[in-house]
Amino acid sequence: MRIIVVQGDITDQRADAIVNAANSSLLGGGGVDGAIHRKGGSEILEACRKLRASAYGKGLPPGQAVATTAGMLPAKWVIHTVGPVYSATENRSHVLKSCYRESLHVADELGASTVAFPAVSTGVYRWPMDDAARIAIGTVRATPTKVEEVRFVLFTDEAFAQFQAQM
Ligand code: APR
Repeated sequence: MRIIVVQGDITDQRADAIVNAANSSLLGGGGVDGAIHRKGGSEILEACRKLRASAYGKGLPPGQAVATTAGMLPAKWVIHTVGPVYSATENRSHVLKSCYRESLHVADELGASTVAFPAVSTGVYRWPMDDAARIAIGTVRATPTKVEEVRFVLFTDEAFAQFQAQM
């Protein structure tokens, strides 16, 4: 598996699966979540609503991942995952690792060969970028998967530099 780091808007990325930094409601929000729903269109939200009405009645727990259509995005699927909110007193690293591991497992179930990830939890959820980059790249490297390319798509210069530093 190839790991690459690029700077840009994840909703412009052509990939089999684009990972969304969602919240447990699965009903949209700001940041990556807002961009994906805005650009992907209402088909994604409709699919999320169906998940809430069925398998995920109580929402998607942090660390888990679930796929929907990608709507009008240049991708086949969106893999929604819910990152942990950063805590200075409680070590939630295992939950952030789970986001990357579970997203790759869902990608394998789908047969996706290229997966684009944002820097999960590093925005509204306030996870320090350097530690998030270490966890993201370390977890992807350590997870057996049939995915051929994992692309980290970073929005800011700082995020891009921090992820590059982990390569
Ligand atoms: N493409 C790539 N990266 C992006 C984009 C984009 N279009 N928009 C934002 N980012 C970056 C942010 O700069 C940050 O580094 O994605 C990272 C994750 O930030 P958030 O989107 O805020 O996600 P997160 O910190 O996981 O918080 C999730 O925020 O948007 C809400 O509904 C979402 O409640 C959930 C929470």
